[in-house]
Amino acid sequence: MTAQPPATVAVVDRPMRGMPVQGPSDVGYRLVDPDLVTIHVTDLGVTRGDGVFEGLGVVDGAVQALEPHLLRLARSAAMLDLPELDLDVFRAACLASAAAHEPAPFLLQKLVVTRGLEGGDGTPTAWVRTAVMDDPAIERRDGISVVSLDRGYRHDVAETSPWLLQGAKTLSYAVNKSVLREAARRGADDVLFVSSDGYALEGPSASLLARFGDRYTTPRLDLGILAGTTQAAAFEALERQGVTVEYALLTLDRVREADALWLVSSGRQIAPVTTLDGVSVPVDGAETERLGEALVGRRR
Ligand SMILES: Cc1ncc(COP(=O)(O)O)c(C=O)c1O
Repeated sequence: MTAQPPATVAVVDRPMRGMPVQGPSDVGYRLVDPDLVTIHVTDLGVTRGDGVFEGLGVVDGAVQALEPHLLRLARSAAMLDLPELDLDVFRAACLASAAAHEPAPFLLQKLVVTRGLEGGDGTPTAWVRTAVMDDPAIERRDGISVVSLDRGYRHDVAETSPWLLQGAKTLSYAVNKSVLREAARRGADDVLFVSSDGYALEGPSASLLARFGDRYTTPRLDLGILAGTTQAAAFEALERQGVTVEYALLTLDRVREADALWLVSSGRQIAPVTTLDGVSVPVDGAETERLGEALVGRRR
């Protein structure tokens, strides 16, 4: 295996709006040696998973969908009653962390904001780390096998029980990782969450895209799922080509009737689903390539 170039880390010193600027050299963040940066043992991000994050793709040096990621970060933070974040500082930290990295075709940025120290003054701990992304071309070519797993909440959970934070990108991803181990026990690569009343939701780290005939569909965004920036970019690309796209309530049975399925995310770009619960799903390689190229080409 070839050694990967070192990650870059920008520690965000002024994460909240309105924090005073400490002199002319204070741009709100500092690029630091990734091996020297530490996190306090009482940080609530570590002890409680209390915080929010974003995962951003960097393709040929350009951070993808930066503004949609920053807006989603702000939405997640608001759902957790975190202080209002200074998105200008986070934007600059993302760009600086990406620019400081050795050039590579695909990088992945993790932007993390925690509630800060237990018993502290409430200032969030925040940083952006950029590292080489696993090559997305492999899943794009080979596809993934997916099993459906019950998410344990009804499709209207976001409306009935907003305190459960469904739809916020919180640091509490133990469940999102546990389901991957369950998928592996069932011989599959990934998961499609299904609401307790039978509606398709999303993957543990990706959005679902389905094609029915010439129409592309994704689950409605009010189902306690994450509003995916990759899914949104795919829809924009499709709409530019005059293709019909829609947000819908999809039962799992309806998903099984799709002409093609994909899981899409910043970290993997696009992966065609080859089987769902052990049953083959049609795969159109040329269509996947077209969509994949449209996603790679986005530069906002
Ligand atoms: C639960 C969940 N849904 C969907 C997505 C896809 O979001 P995006 O396309 O913005 O990466 C992610 C990304 O990590 C996720 O964790």
